[in-house]
Amino acid sequence: LTVAVLISGSGSNLRALLDAAAAPDFPARVIVVGADREADGFAHAEAYDIPTFLVPWSAFDSREAWAQELDAQLRAWQPDLVVLSGFMRLLPTSLVAAWSPRILNTHPAYLPEFPGAHGVRDALAAGATRTGASVIVVDPGVDSGPIVAQERVAVLPGDDERSLHERIKTVERRLLIEVIRAVAAGELDLAAIAGPPHPAGA
Ligand code: GRF
Repeated sequence: LTVAVLISGSGSNLRALLDAAAAPDFPARVIVVGADREADGFAHAEAYDIPTFLVPWSAFDSREAWAQELDAQLRAWQPDLVVLSGFMRLLPTSLVAAWSPRILNTHPAYLPEFPGAHGVRDALAAGATRTGASVIVVDPGVDSGPIVAQERVAVLPGDDERSLHERIKTVERRLLIEVIRAVAAGELDLAAIAGPPHPAGA
């Protein structure tokens, strides 16, 4: 199974996937890493001699134009699966529809709890005693797609956003690697999980 990973930041989850995929018996291969900005995580792709591409958000005057270039880059690589891992941009419906259900996202909360860009901070602010990590099939909404895997993560007294996010990431990485392995091994059917595509324009 060939995988394209999209990042925006440090790419620690990407690094964990690359380390797992380096095992000779891992049934999936990351063939390209893309980002919407000069992401520190590109260093992990370079460490594994994996090509990268950059579609800078700031270089386009609309989400649609930016997404069109992102889609063109992805099509050039023809991955079997697209994985958003710390990718901080909303994808327009056109791109999601073109790739669903072969497009996954990881989120540092127990969806549908705490969606959006600050899921860890929001769980802390809500005084949650537990939160979680989720892997979903991307849909046009914000972290609203069908859940592929998720697991609870405890919030500990004295946690701040960083310590809680690190604890969540260890679970996120394990879930993401397991989901990709299962999809590659034919044990997980993303089309079945995603259900029928939204009828056009619905
Ligand atoms: C991950 O928790 C991801 O779910 C969230 O941001 C974090 C990215 O971390 N969107 P990294 O870039 O993989 O270190």
